[in-house]
Amino acid sequence: MTSDIMSSSVGDDFVPFADDDPYPLYRRARQEEPVFFSPALGGWVVTKYQDVRSVLGNPKAFSLATVPDTLARLSEAAYAELAKTFSEVPVAIREDAVDEARKRVRNPILNAFSAERTARMQPFIQQQVDLLIDAFADRDTAELMAEFARVLPVRVKAPALGLDEQDIDAFVRGTSDFMELHSVAAQLPVADQVDRARKVVGYQRLLDSYSQRRRDDPRDDLFSEMVASMAPGSGPLTLAQRKALVDGMTGLIAAGHFTTTAMLGTAVWHLLSHPDQWELLCRQPGLADTAIEELARYDMPLRGLMRRVTKRVTLAGVNMNPGTELMILYQSANRDETEFDRPDELDITRPATDHFGYGFGSRSCVGAPLGRAILRTALLTLTARLPGMRLVPGQEVRCMPGLHKIVRELHVEW
Ligand code: HEM
Repeated sequence: MTSDIMSSSVGDDFVPFADDDPYPLYRRARQEEPVFFSPALGGWVVTKYQDVRSVLGNPKAFSLATVPDTLARLSEAAYAELAKTFSEVPVAIREDAVDEARKRVRNPILNAFSAERTARMQPFIQQQVDLLIDAFADRDTAELMAEFARVLPVRVKAPALGLDEQDIDAFVRGTSDFMELHSVAAQLPVADQVDRARKVVGYQRLLDSYSQRRRDDPRDDLFSEMVASMAPGSGPLTLAQRKALVDGMTGLIAAGHFTTTAMLGTAVWHLLSHPDQWELLCRQPGLADTAIEELARYDMPLRGLMRRVTKRVTLAGVNMNPGTELMILYQSANRDETEFDRPDELDITRPATDHFGYGFGSRSCVGAPLGRAILRTALLTLTARLPGMRLVPGQEVRCMPGLHKIVRELHVEW
């Protein structure tokens, strides 16, 4: 088989980035065509655990590809608006896994959100979780995405990043606008796309002003460390440095925010859809650690990510030429029956598994300790304070299209 085959039966049924319950199709793919071509994506899709692991373990042959065109295809007018600032599609870390430049970006983040520093942040995480729950606990219903999951991650990270209190709401809005621009905005009328693009430009200008201020007056925060690491020296930042910093910080804030928002939404949704599991966690909070790993395995917040082939390779019998794009389907690998017992069952007592919830290898998640701490604290506090919580009956829970599987609205009552 070669990479010029343009259609396949599984591939024709595959809807990239948009399916709320793709698992039956993924199972079929693993059985019939573990690496299949998707005409909609214009690339290959990798579904089995061991193949995904091979790709992630070989970043020289499978380099990072940014957000695919299928996702980012906005109107020309929206791109023109975005061009007024620095960047069209920022990613957290653009360089390939091996170079020094990449380490300069990764290391400050790893340091800022190490297990030890995250443990020190625990009282603050608890306080932020409590504040948000206080705002709705006296009622008997809430929309958990707007009132909790979309707000919590930025609020928790703000002090470590060094964001000023008065700017936090702007950062929460900015990440949401950015998220919308790169998921659903392409489906909106042109005027609305331009409106979202304008908001993202405003957000990036805010980040740019932070870069220069932290350059002139460094503080003990991650923003200052990123400036020192990515743009060593003094004096005014060059245009290229400003662009790299805005890109890196937009991507960093987004990488931590979308995944954690997505994870909070799907975690509560799936626990409440499996009331026996919710009640078990209410009764046995000691299961929180296995619960958060199982929830990341069961329905991973990143549907999958793109890689680009850099040299001639063969994967599961498929020959690929340099330049070929492929999607690693984390969600499918995490349900691979050859790796996981009863893969389609949510079982919060399941002993820890090597799932891909936080990636694998040299591009794996640098914020995993923080993501896990936020998730654990949120679930423990919700189950302790509102054990009678249930999904409002009759609602159809839907997710946004995009790389991240983010629940649109989650109406709960107690
Ligand atoms: C529950 C929460 C989270 C989940 C499930 C998650 C998941 C992931 C995954 C799967 C990757 C690998 C992407 C790849 O293969 O290319 C990744 C990378 C990354 N994550 Fe997370 N993440 C979470 C929270 C966070 C937080 C809180 C931060 C920041 C504070 C963060 C920052 C990053 C960055 C910067 C990368 C890119 C690393 C690199 O390219 O070297 N993540 N994350």
